[in-house]
Amino acid sequence: MTDQNLAPATFEVDGKRLEFQRHPAVEGNDGVNIGSLLRETGLVTLDHGFMNTASCESTITYIDGDEGILRYRGYPIEQLAENSTFLEVAYLLIHGELPDMDTYEGYMHRLKRHRLLHEDFNAFFHAFPAHGHPMAILQAGIAGLATYYPHTLNPKDPVEVDKATTLLMAKVPTMIASIFRRAAGLPLLYPDNSKLYAEDFLWMTFGMPYEKYDVDPMLVSALNRLLILHADHEQNCSTATVRMVGSADANMYASVAAGVGALSGPLHGGANEAVLAMLGKIRESGEGVAKFVERVKNKEDDVKLMGFGHRVYKHYDPRAAIVKKSAHEVLEKLGGDNELLDLAMELEGIALSDEYFVERKLYPNVDFYTGLIYKAMGFPEKMFTPLFALGRLPGWISQYREMLEDPTTKIGRPRQVYVGEAERAWVPREERQHKA
Ligand code: ACO
Repeated sequence: MTDQNLAPATFEVDGKRLEFQRHPAVEGNDGVNIGSLLRETGLVTLDHGFMNTASCESTITYIDGDEGILRYRGYPIEQLAENSTFLEVAYLLIHGELPDMDTYEGYMHRLKRHRLLHEDFNAFFHAFPAHGHPMAILQAGIAGLATYYPHTLNPKDPVEVDKATTLLMAKVPTMIASIFRRAAGLPLLYPDNSKLYAEDFLWMTFGMPYEKYDVDPMLVSALNRLLILHADHEQNCSTATVRMVGSADANMYASVAAGVGALSGPLHGGANEAVLAMLGKIRESGEGVAKFVERVKNKEDDVKLMGFGHRVYKHYDPRAAIVKKSAHEVLEKLGGDNELLDLAMELEGIALSDEYFVERKLYPNVDFYTGLIYKAMGFPEKMFTPLFALGRLPGWISQYREMLEDPTTKIGRPRQVYVGEAERAWVPREERQHKA
């Protein structure tokens, strides 16, 4: 949306004055549409890591990184985490409004009918090494859904897009639980339709076929809260990937699978696993937290304080504040690894008062405390990032759908500034001089 009443941004190059229309934001930074820059001047913008580039206009999630604000469709994250279920938030993200009673019932019913995986998925999962990383298996599994549901692939058909949305939301929890069970050598459990989304996921993960498994309501509520906190985060690395792949009219499964790949990186979702590994190493090495922080500050071996820092938040990540509180509650109830929690808090305390971190505005992000909760719940470390993916699923889906519905969407295709060799002539192999 442009606003003709706003003064355009002006830019002068080689004596030529150009005007670019502003795109006003409801909140946050306005945009400047520089689409005609190349045509008018022969210049492209160069913005490493998209530090300053908005790739779309969006109505889904708002972040104010300086104030530590996060809202989905206008609702503050604190209110959603306190009062909603994950499924309700998923509906909000995907459809734009919180569901009323009837709509919520209907939504739950629709998802319940599709929770089962095709039986051939057992063979599919068995084809991978049992201890292969669950994120790699999940990425393949999600992409593989396209082969089972060819009638849900057309991004131009809203009915097919709705079907793919339902199938992904319904089947990914079953898939993640199955990946866990296979790695643990446990029999796969079928979904139980008497249970709600998060509860059913915990049952499929931790239940046993030969005994009654009552899911602890405190665990259900903690999991719901964690999934809500991860549900969307506007144009982060994985979401931008989903939109990029989808902009080529790739189907929803291919696009979301690409997002899973991006999320697996330790600088993104993989940080939750990396935090626990870091805490474990600090404990085992006995070097002490202060010594470790010194190594981080000296950038020794590129060591970073995992779970710290964020591209957008230059203030305490509001999600981290909620997770920290939850970590105390869950560990108190379940008696988890309090030593690691103490270590994490000591690390946070030192970092937050150290000039290196203060100057760079580095605060704990959502991943700093989540692993401690997942570990206390009984999840092995390799499952932490798949749990993040489960939470982020409705965000990816809603962003993919918004991209499809936006008439300004074009295939994502950045430019480059070429800095390689200028033109040179081919020479026969025997005449080539090997460059060291
Ligand atoms: N530990 C130590 N130093 C750090 C950290 C960290 N965790 N994060 C940033 N810095 C330093 C950088 O070295 C840099 O220092 P310099 O100015 O001396 O060169 C400065 O802070 C700015 O950092 P950038 O890397 O430029 O920040 P950017 O916005 O590109 O990166 C990122 C953000 C990737 C999250 C980074 O902070 C990081 O690697 N954190 C650790 C991994 C992590 O926790 N990732 C999860 C992020 S949340 C999520 O994706 C769900």
